[in-house]
Amino acid sequence: MAAADVLVYRDQQMLAAAGAARLITRLSELQATRRSASVVLTGGGTGIAVLEQLRHAPARDAIDWSRLDIYWGDERFVPSTDHERNEKQAREALLEAVPIEPHRVHAMPAAEEYGGDPDAAAGAYAELLRGRPAGEPLFDVMLLGLGPEGHTASIFPDSPAVYERDRAVVGVRDCPKPPPTRVSLTLPTIRRSSEVWLMAAGGGKADAVALALSGAPETQLPVAGARGLQRTLWLIDEAAAGKLDRAR
Ligand code: 6PG
Repeated sequence: MAAADVLVYRDQQMLAAAGAARLITRLSELQATRRSASVVLTGGGTGIAVLEQLRHAPARDAIDWSRLDIYWGDERFVPSTDHERNEKQAREALLEAVPIEPHRVHAMPAAEEYGGDPDAAAGAYAELLRGRPAGEPLFDVMLLGLGPEGHTASIFPDSPAVYERDRAVVGVRDCPKPPPTRVSLTLPTIRRSSEVWLMAAGGGKADAVALALSGAPETQLPVAGARGLQRTLWLIDEAAAGKLDRAR
């Protein structure tokens, strides 16, 4: 896997606008060379800000929305109508405004499904992923945020999820970031994406960014294990870059 690329932007708004522009370029490039493309969305303020910027981007429809498969890296295991849902926030930020094919939006199950069992919900999503074409990268572009202590998706330091090597998707309980119950891709699944884009804004992320880029172990800093097969791209703002050796 290649070394990470790091791009630093003035603030979260500029980061989100640049991330949206990069998505348009990358996804339309992929669609020009083959039938469809796939993107994995994330929750959190920066992840949703990118979708909002994408909604208003002049070149937005350079993406052929009818040939885009959308997945999630994690989801809060709450009722589908709960505003905490990453899917609900993504629909309001972007998906309701673009002609996506409904059957190509692959949301993770909500709490009213699978008997309210996050492990069963995770198993169902893993089954869905097994239907993806074999042999290729599982996804084209995966968007991920990160927390101040280094979590990514819903994989937290020294949690059962960070040690998972067999299941592609897991249920997460007692998550330190509310809501406490979630469904999340595991790091081995994240690493099956062609490209992984890590997005962080604010000084509170500066330690995690610096530690991840200096090779911290993933069990203590899960975001350090979020790498793409072809590319790992960090999109951060000046504040989140505050602890980086500027010589990078
Ligand atoms: C979630 C996210 C989570 C998020 C980070 C960053 O469902 O909460 O997937 O991993 O991306 O916590 O969130 P902020 O951008 O709001 O700091």
